[in-house]
Amino acid sequence: MPFLQNSWYCASWSKDLTSRPVGIRILDEDLVIYRRADGVPVAMTGICPHRFAPLSLGKVDGDDIICGYHGLRFDPHGACTHNPHGKGMVPPRARLTPYPVEDRSGAIWVWMGDPEHANASDILSFDFLTDTQAWAGFSGYLHINSNYQLVIDNLLDLTHAAYLHPNSVGVDPKLRGDRKLKYKFSVEDGVITSDYSVEGTPPSPLLRLWTDREIGDIYSPISLHLPSNLVLDLSMTDRGMARGTGSRMPSVHLIVPETETSCHYFYALSRNGRLDDPALSESMANIIRQAFVDEDEPMIRAVHDAMRGRDFFALEPAILETDAAGLTARRALAKLIKQEQAALKKSPAGPSDALTESLS
Ligand code: FES
Ligand SMILES: [Fe+2]
Repeated sequence: MPFLQNSWYCASWSKDLTSRPVGIRILDEDLVIYRRADGVPVAMTGICPHRFAPLSLGKVDGDDIICGYHGLRFDPHGACTHNPHGKGMVPPRARLTPYPVEDRSGAIWVWMGDPEHANASDILSFDFLTDTQAWAGFSGYLHINSNYQLVIDNLLDLTHAAYLHPNSVGVDPKLRGDRKLKYKFSVEDGVITSDYSVEGTPPSPLLRLWTDREIGDIYSPISLHLPSNLVLDLSMTDRGMARGTGSRMPSVHLIVPETETSCHYFYALSRNGRLDDPALSESMANIIRQAFVDEDEPMIRAVHDAMRGRDFFALEPAILETDAAGLTARRALAKLIKQEQAALKKSPAGPSDALTESLS
């Protein structure tokens, strides 16, 4: 299936991007990203048009990037401004395509569609990564050899945590006793939410690192902002207290298609307690790595391999009640992509109209 082009995709955590050029493949396109001398991010075609050297192997000089193979120089708008060879003639093909790029909410976002439709106010905002007065946490990255939609499925169905992650981010069903997860599914303004809650439960090993509660209520609403950005607003409260109080641990999960069979997973997690405790952040990051790298990634990859490239719906999966969000997400995304492809044949369409329509 084609990808949704008219969307902002995360290309890096903001803190990780410097003047050192970095290559990243998004939606099967190779990009190079770096910061100009004034710190403004740049995103352009990642392969040199001369002999196809990755520009990530070049070096940034001021605002420009110089190819590391034969030295062509490109400005941040993609124009080749210097050919050090022969008479210095610059052939018309010696140019790069610049991509709209924004530094927001602690991440570098690249617009992969028609630049005419790039609107920075569409970028997801989450202050828990940038407001260090109220939150502490960490961010990370994981490469997954699976189609990106399987990662969305994984995140929208958190019932897997009890079985795949009892020693990291889940609560072993045996410890929960007969207290069941309650599940609610909703779609509002194009945002698809799976809302899980369980009352009178012990904390997960991750929560246990920093909450004093032996027993409490856990709320885990996770929302998908199409095409592939998710926000989980997890909280553990004293019994009977309102959700969103107590120990809060919001996280973002930005899934970026690399190819049809691989994706980038940028994640970040914050907490609202023990803010001045970097050792705690490190311990939490270790548990998250265990959950994502040792537990989620092998399972998602195994599912991808088991599906052998066959269409999800054509495989006629057995549907559980808790699959409502995942199924809705797949259908909505397919509809969005179809609409975009149809519009591309006529005139380019903006993402927001198509998004609203796809869920109606
Ligand atoms: S490949 Fe870049 S200058 Fe030759
Ligand atoms: Fe998981």
